[in-house]
Amino acid sequence: MYKIAVFKGDGVGPEVIREAIKVLNTISEIYGIDFEFLDYPYGAEHYLKTGETLPDYVLDELKECDAILFSAVGDPRVKPGILEQEILLKLRFHFDLYVNLRPIITFEGVKTPINKRVRIYYIRENTEDFYVAAGDHVSKTKYTSKLNIKRNLYNIKMNIDIESDEEFAYQIGVISKKGAERVIRFAFEFAKEKGLSKVTSVDKANVLSYIYNFWRDIFKDVASKFPEISYEFVYVDAMAMYLITKPESFEVIVSPNMFGDILTDLGAAIQGGIGLAPSANINPEKKFGMFEPIHGSAPDIAGKNISNPIAMILSTALMLDFLGEKDASKIVEKSVSEILKEGKYLTPDLGGNAKTYQVGDAICKKLKEISKQF
Ligand code: NAI
Ligand code: MG
Repeated sequence: MYKIAVFKGDGVGPEVIREAIKVLNTISEIYGIDFEFLDYPYGAEHYLKTGETLPDYVLDELKECDAILFSAVGDPRVKPGILEQEILLKLRFHFDLYVNLRPIITFEGVKTPINKRVRIYYIRENTEDFYVAAGDHVSKTKYTSKLNIKRNLYNIKMNIDIESDEEFAYQIGVISKKGAERVIRFAFEFAKEKGLSKVTSVDKANVLSYIYNFWRDIFKDVASKFPEISYEFVYVDAMAMYLITKPESFEVIVSPNMFGDILTDLGAAIQGGIGLAPSANINPEKKFGMFEPIHGSAPDIAGKNISNPIAMILSTALMLDFLGEKDASKIVEKSVSEILKEGKYLTPDLGGNAKTYQVGDAICKKLKEISKQF
């Protein structure tokens, strides 16, 4: 029995998560795996009604779960940043979900801007780099900035004495030894488990040399423990180009947080759309993860039942894989890929006119069909 926390979220969130649950219930029928779903209401509606984002006691409850399925939060009536920081980032930091896995997979039947078959596992570090929220806006001539970076792994305090004749702002990026080591090791172990042969590191060591040369040193050290897997370093600007010109040459990519954030949106585009792009936020040691599409709440199409549920459904496939249900995970991905190839049930973002629930139903039907061959 797996206990799954379900955050149905805002906008198209409830529509797409309903289809993901349908898929899991079908998996349950086929494989006899039991799921218990616990619904959590947090998101814009709840916040506007109660002023509450994500209360701390919920974090304790979530500890008892095996995983979180999360759709998306966000609403034009709520100031940007509040829900993202107080719900999404709070969950990522509280559970120290330091691996952000974003597969970039092209599917037959889906038009993509590159016309190539691609299967890249992009692993983005999820807790450090320029996302540690350390910085300041300085308008005085003499001033001390007091910075405090508190993470599960460490606590860094800095006092920065400043003398300046100009108003300015600055932001600090942090790469820690333990922080980089664990995500890079995950990338190599992941490659090994999937039978892949190369890990590519993305950075900008030539210009942001303090943090990213440190990253490179740690990368080389970890790589030396995996002699069967080759590796390479690519600068982020070159990688933006290679993802278009030769994406087929990458297998596993690992990078610090910010470059991963940017390049994986490019990844979603080369896949053929944001409606297809899943993600996993995981802490392998704690055996805990949060699985979510990379898209947001899409308020422009919410309530019309035309959102594409596939990114959410592929996120459940990542969850199944993480829970150790490898066959179930593969069969979900296979069903999605068959439905896309047949092209009968595509939502408008993919050029079709199917409704959200029709795509979910078709995937469930396909699951039952192909489960007989597995
Ligand atoms: P978005 O991803 O919600 O939408 C961007 C575009 O993609 C829109 O045209 C939308 O219609 C389309 N789209 C997104 N998901 C789709 C799907 N499943 N099927 C078909 N089309 C889809 O990003 P946007 O518009 O920048 O943000 C909307 C709200 O979502 C904001 O409040 C933002 O803060 C929030 N957001 C939340 C995220 C999360 O919870 N993880 C991530 C990104 C944004
Ligand atoms: Mg992003």
